[in-house]
Amino acid sequence: MARLAILEYPDKRLRLKAEPVEDVDDEIRGLVSDMLETMYAAAGIGLAATQVNVRKRLLVIDVSEARDEPHVLINPVIVHAQGKISSEEGCLSVPDVFDYVERAEQIRATYLDLDGRPAELEAEDLLAVCVQHEIDHLDGKLFVDYLSELKRQRLRKKALKKVRRSANEAPRQSISARLI
Ligand code: NI
Repeated sequence: MARLAILEYPDKRLRLKAEPVEDVDDEIRGLVSDMLETMYAAAGIGLAATQVNVRKRLLVIDVSEARDEPHVLINPVIVHAQGKISSEEGCLSVPDVFDYVERAEQIRATYLDLDGRPAELEAEDLLAVCVQHEIDHLDGKLFVDYLSELKRQRLRKKALKKVRRSANEAPRQSISARLI
């Protein structure tokens, strides 16, 4: 297993659309192991392949307190969504930014499991939010895209300043239960 580098906003590679996984093989399973390790090490509750610069439709999630209930969704598709929930989101790829986003409260998603078999997940609340946030990543979309233009302008300025500063500063450590 290995920890992978997580791309950070405003990196343009976060805007690339991921391609479906054709074969769930050992290479994919190895990538899943690395992504889980990376997510746990970063104290995140979700991570999409796009965030580690892999253009494959694949995501990992663990919203459990004990951090021992990983979900691995390959080629996930939301086939049903209902209700609305507004919750505060953060993202491993957009450090230090938290804001409210409205999403479906309950979803049903189809996906392939680690053996390449079709599977289904029914989710609500935080898990449902997380699945939607991660699928957005696979489509090149970030949670900040849902914020007002004014907020996004401020964020872009802050992110650019940070990129200029980062050469001579230690990396920030931020611990949040909602980094997805
Ligand atoms: Ni995210």
